[in-house]
Amino acid sequence: MITMGEVIYTGKAKQMWSTDDPEVLRVVYLDQATALNGKKKDEIKGKGQINNEISTLIFEYLTQKGLKTHFIKKLSATEELVRKVTIIPLEAVTRNIATGHFVTRFGIEDGTVFKTPVEETYYKSDALDDPFINESQTLALGLATKEELAQLWELSRQVNQLLSALFLKANMILVDFKLEFGRLSDGTLVLADEFSPDNCRLWDKETKAHLDKDVYRQDLGELTPVYEEVLNRLKVALEEE
Ligand code: C5P
Repeated sequence: MITMGEVIYTGKAKQMWSTDDPEVLRVVYLDQATALNGKKKDEIKGKGQINNEISTLIFEYLTQKGLKTHFIKKLSATEELVRKVTIIPLEAVTRNIATGHFVTRFGIEDGTVFKTPVEETYYKSDALDDPFINESQTLALGLATKEELAQLWELSRQVNQLLSALFLKANMILVDFKLEFGRLSDGTLVLADEFSPDNCRLWDKETKAHLDKDVYRQDLGELTPVYEEVLNRLKVALEEE
């Protein structure tokens, strides 16, 4: 029986709570959506519950496939238990198809399929708008070691392979995604944070309709029904596994 402690961190869409076990945290998914680094912000009823459910299914799937993650279990509709990690302050973005910031930065056509996936890291800093950071800068600042970066990209590639195939079964294309990693108390690198349509782009395989947070970013309609659609398709694909 885990006793709840106090809030130790409030993010844009989640809150982290301590528990009576110093190695375990409780995550609460909030009914909040943000874009433009928090400049656009809205309460979206039901979003916390759906993202918790989607992220739980994905983390359970990745764990079952042998990947090391922080995930322990889903606690309730909006809560889960995770192992406490020291977060590496990097956002690891993998892109299979050009869209979003890649298109504005390099001026290529939206929807261009890359020959090989693009791998980019950003320095996690709201104050600096998460600037792009390369390996030499990461090593110079001591944010992660060379070995950790190698492990982090190896894990990201496995996630890309496993989830691209899973989403394809659910008639969705995994366009791009952002992962975060942390160190357990013994230094082991694990996948942390969440995996939901908040931090990836999913396109319908046939229509290429947006099934992710771009619906909110670009004011394309209501977000909750879209996230529900992703959850339902995912459940069917997992049942067929
Ligand atoms: O905006 P950009 O094109 O760089 O986003 C690439 C991917 O990373 C998208 O799936 C987006 O949802 C995700 N991302 C994120 N958090 C950020 C920046 C990007 O989850 N702070």
